[in-house]
Amino acid sequence: MEENTDEIIHRSEYGGSIPVDNVQALASKDLKDIPIRYIRPEIESEEVLTDESLQIPVIDISKLIVAGQPGYDDELAKLHVACKDWGFFQLINHGISETIDAMKEVTKEFFKLPLEEKIKYAQISSSIEGYGQAFVVSQEQKLDWGDMLFLLPLPVPQRNMRFWPQNPNSFRTTLDEYSSKLYGLSIKLFELISINLGIKAEEIIKVYEKCTQGIRMNYYPPCPEAHKVVGLAPHSDATGLTLLVQVNEVQGLQIKKNSKWVPIKPILGSIIVNIGDVMEIMSNGEYSSIEHRAVVDFENERLSIAAFHSPGIEAVIGPLMELCKEKTPKYKTIDVKDYLRLIITSKLDGKCLIDHMKI
Ligand code: OGA
Ligand code: NI
Repeated sequence: MEENTDEIIHRSEYGGSIPVDNVQALASKDLKDIPIRYIRPEIESEEVLTDESLQIPVIDISKLIVAGQPGYDDELAKLHVACKDWGFFQLINHGISETIDAMKEVTKEFFKLPLEEKIKYAQISSSIEGYGQAFVVSQEQKLDWGDMLFLLPLPVPQRNMRFWPQNPNSFRTTLDEYSSKLYGLSIKLFELISINLGIKAEEIIKVYEKCTQGIRMNYYPPCPEAHKVVGLAPHSDATGLTLLVQVNEVQGLQIKKNSKWVPIKPILGSIIVNIGDVMEIMSNGEYSSIEHRAVVDFENERLSIAAFHSPGIEAVIGPLMELCKEKTPKYKTIDVKDYLRLIITSKLDGKCLIDHMKI
């Protein structure tokens, strides 16, 4: 068994799975009937909230540059509530719009390329990176209505350039810049979070110093039976923080709140941030990771870019020590390697990762 899980670990949670049909190609065929493997009978009965007044908090990060500046305290308090009560928020005035716009452009161009060109960067069985589908582990499993390109831009020395598209030709330089800007922003957010949790920033920062950053570009084709499929099945992110950007204006992200799906209305140019499982564990449950999914549109394609920030491979994952002085730890502390193994095995037996970590 040991050997088996080690092998699977290389595939990770995000990709590197049993090869299945390319959904973009499938969707372009003018299908009468959607193949049964994509049809999810359960989703039609799940309640989706239509009241648009219920929206995730909006955080203006330009008010959080330096402590004491006008509006700082209020915005910091808002951030705490956003992390605690929602696990999701939209970040505005982040100052990296140009980089984001460039990244959106190369992402759109990549998915527009002919299939022969895109599959030059296809996943291979021994790797988690590349173009393909997220984590397909069995021949019976239901499939998501979407394709993706997953890369690990950080740590830099471990980059696997074989999977980095050279077409469009500015893809690599654009992703390189995007990766470093998003990493910088996530460190800033970790610092702010540490203030809100009442701990020293170094405690969190040291865990993310050698951050593993994954970037997943999602492509969800339109589907004539959009109400019966999902673009990305319900999940929580097994990371610290996820920074998600909507590439075009087609909505699709929904979060679970009080057992109902709440559609997120992205503000143009904003970054949607969410608390991942690792952050839930590190905060000893003060913050929680939230289940979310992506639905697809009947007529329009949808694209998004998710950037996952996880602790470096040498780190340990557990409640931050300072938080356990007065409170008992609610989660186990384990090595990142064991954590990765847990991600895989809990996916394989369909259990929630967080449940395995709870004491
Ligand atoms: C993800 C994710 C949502 C979206 O990639 O983990 O949740 O809207 N994406 O594409
Ligand atoms: Ni996600």
